[in-house]
Amino acid sequence: MSKYVLVTGGAGYIGSHTVVSLSENGYIPLILDNFENANRSVLNGLHKILGFEPILLEGDVCDNDFLKSIFLSYEIHGVIHFAAYKAVGESVKEPLKYYKNNLLGLINILNNMIEFRIKNLVFSSSCTVYGEPKGIKEMIEETPKNSPNSPYGWTKWMSEQIIEDVIKANPSLNIAVLRYFNPVGAHKSVFIGEFPIGKPNNLMPYITQTAIGKQEKLIVFGNDYPTIDGTCVRDYIHVIDLAEAHVKAISFLESKSGVLEAINIGTGKGLSVLEIINAFTIETGVQINWEFGPKRKGDVTEIFANANKAKTILGWEAKLSINDAINDAWNWEKKLAATK
Ligand code: UFG
Repeated sequence: MSKYVLVTGGAGYIGSHTVVSLSENGYIPLILDNFENANRSVLNGLHKILGFEPILLEGDVCDNDFLKSIFLSYEIHGVIHFAAYKAVGESVKEPLKYYKNNLLGLINILNNMIEFRIKNLVFSSSCTVYGEPKGIKEMIEETPKNSPNSPYGWTKWMSEQIIEDVIKANPSLNIAVLRYFNPVGAHKSVFIGEFPIGKPNNLMPYITQTAIGKQEKLIVFGNDYPTIDGTCVRDYIHVIDLAEAHVKAISFLESKSGVLEAINIGTGKGLSVLEIINAFTIETGVQINWEFGPKRKGDVTEIFANANKAKTILGWEAKLSINDAINDAWNWEKKLAATK
């Protein structure tokens, strides 16, 4: 039986890498994307990696008629729901845009899954649901959720709540909520990677763009946090490892009935901003033009995953190192510059 997995946001950064992993593991990904925050060249990149172009269903997850037509056309084995807005700063300025898109998309997915009796859903969540850690910075899944620091974060928090309520009312659903820490890197082939729109918000693409000369200077947000060197600490996870976690999650759900599991996807190790900058220079030999600037509003001081649950129940753990991620991100940036 063909194992079609609907991947909403499948042309995006994490989505496209997951499409590769799914294909390599015997699934048939169906990419649903409206290309609002994805680059069409991803399709060509996927073709080069896979040797064929995956099925593309172009449209919006918020368009329920469109979504329904997909469920009518394919016997869907599972859904991985990435499609959502993700820019923290923009969400502060345009909260309604975020609530509408991120919550409606999920509601449409759940409605169709219930109507068409599709059981397995992997939902793309974030460590933002933990808010600012109180005390211990290593998050376990049982850590009570806390107030996120942005409307974007609240959409993930609320989505998790929606999922919890929906599964109570529909116990045949199986849902894995993956709480990502900080995804970085690119596919080793550099046929796919991240395409930040405008100035990057995230650290790694800002570093690579500064290194290549696309940005003049990296501003390190704050230097007096109570951390190892005064800069914020995060858990940077290679996007390839993250993609594989989704495949493991789909395969875990296949054998279950009525499960809901929230699972951290991180390395279990925190690194400061300065540690990342230093690692970049050591790994690539390229100096970064950077200086300290004011703290960024809403940044949590320090957070990293306890990733034991992913290992126990999914048989997944991060295999790639921060140096792998730096090399892959840097090679991707150089490739982008060369193909301009
Ligand atoms: N940073 C800088 N300068 C920059 C960019 C980032 O110093 O130009 C620092 C930030 O202050 C932070 C670290 O680098 O300490 C990582 O910042 P990112 O923006 O890359 O990542 P965040 O941890 O802030 O955000 C990520 C996801 C969000 C999610 C959040 C949850 O990108 O989607 O984690 O904590 F909401």
